[in-house]
Amino acid sequence: MTYAIVPAGGLGARMGSRRPKQYLRLGRAPILVATLRALARARGLDGIVVAVPEPHVEATRRLLAASRVPKVAAVVAGGVDRQESVWRALQRVPESARWVVVHDAVRPFITAALVERVRAAAAHGGATCGMPVRETVKRVKDGAVEATVERVGLWLTQTPQAFTRALLWEAHEKARRDGFSGTDDAVLVERLGTTVAMVPGLPQNLKITTPEDLRTARSWAKPHRRA
Ligand code: CTP
Ligand code: MG
Repeated sequence: MTYAIVPAGGLGARMGSRRPKQYLRLGRAPILVATLRALARARGLDGIVVAVPEPHVEATRRLLAASRVPKVAAVVAGGVDRQESVWRALQRVPESARWVVVHDAVRPFITAALVERVRAAAAHGGATCGMPVRETVKRVKDGAVEATVERVGLWLTQTPQAFTRALLWEAHEKARRDGFSGTDDAVLVERLGTTVAMVPGLPQNLKITTPEDLRTARSWAKPHRRA
């Protein structure tokens, strides 16, 4: 069995909207619903656990039921950061699930094929997807270039990421013991010394973070008109 965890417990400080950004509309549906629908299309996915801000748990349950989002197994209260939200959702993944796919609620442009590709690449434990950095990378301080960073081998990381349930559990437990906080799940597995595979993600796999990102996402979501 394969389960998915969708961390949707953030408040969207960089978006600056009144409602957390995962509830803002993209076309007809909230971003969260669009993401869950895309994720649910992946073959071999048996259930999805969603972590949302605690005050939004009940309303989100109603929203997902009314939107008939398939495969939602549970909606749980998230934590203070992404890592804690994933950990809380992981408590609700059944032990019979051998695989767990973790995917950000604010990346609605994934495809079923990408989810399946990452899951397949995790055969030896863990996998993430990403894109090789194309541009020249510089470290900047106080408006001036401090250094040019060697680009070779640098990738920008996306989600979905996939792990065996046991490995993801062990990685989170160790991070908690060590007081380590990471911005994705792969880094927690890397800290165990376990290899995480990297496979190509999608150029359109935008993480909706700022109002500008939302405008971009909405322009992509519009049905394209002929000139
Ligand atoms: N997330 C979460 N629990 C948190 C914080 C973040 O589940 N306590 C989720 C977000 O809802 C999002 C994903 O992790 O789906 C990626 O986080 P990010 O884009 O940083 O979202 P926010 O934390 O909401 O935004 P910001 O950092 O601007 O406040
Ligand atoms: Mg954040």
